[in-house]
Amino acid sequence: MIRTGAMVALLLVLINTISCQTDVEIKRQRYITEGILIYKTNCANCHQTNGQGLAALYPPLAGSDYLANKNTVICLIRYGQQGPIQVNGKRYNRPMPAQPQLSDLEIAELTTYIYNEWSTETTVTDVKTVTPVLDQCREKVASQ
Ligand code: HEC
Repeated sequence: MIRTGAMVALLLVLINTISCQTDVEIKRQRYITEGILIYKTNCANCHQTNGQGLAALYPPLAGSDYLANKNTVICLIRYGQQGPIQVNGKRYNRPMPAQPQLSDLEIAELTTYIYNEWSTETTVTDVKTVTPVLDQCREKVASQ
């Protein structure tokens, strides 16, 4: 009897673990699917659908070393970017327009897509992570 009880308990733990993982995966897929659409509408004009950028004008996102600092990227998506920057050793210096039309959730979905597609991540950048980062950079932008 005790053994059966232990087996059932083990089975329940297993089932629970598997369904939890599935929830996480479903969420990741949902974020990525939305992220692709948001990217195509708001970013692909300049950075191109394949993320390769365009010549010396628009830097690549695919394999970009600039992605290493995710908080900077999250802020840059909402507030734009001006002044010279270096991406994979190449210099760029053109203004990127701010994207105030994108909600916190949309920026989270976009960030998840970019990092899953063009960096090495396989996880979700949750909106709960993105909102405090955006709040912080709003304060910075406001005090300039
Ligand atoms: C009008 C063209 C344009 C649009 C639209 C645009 N960007 Fe950019 N983006 C740029 C330029 C130009 C730079 C380089 C800015 C500089 O030189 O200071 C840049 C830089 C970046 C960088 C940092 C450098 C790199 O390549 O890793 C990221 C990340 C980025 N953009 C993401 C996005 C995302 C996401 C969107 C869509 C919400 C977007 N951009 C929309 C032109 C654009």
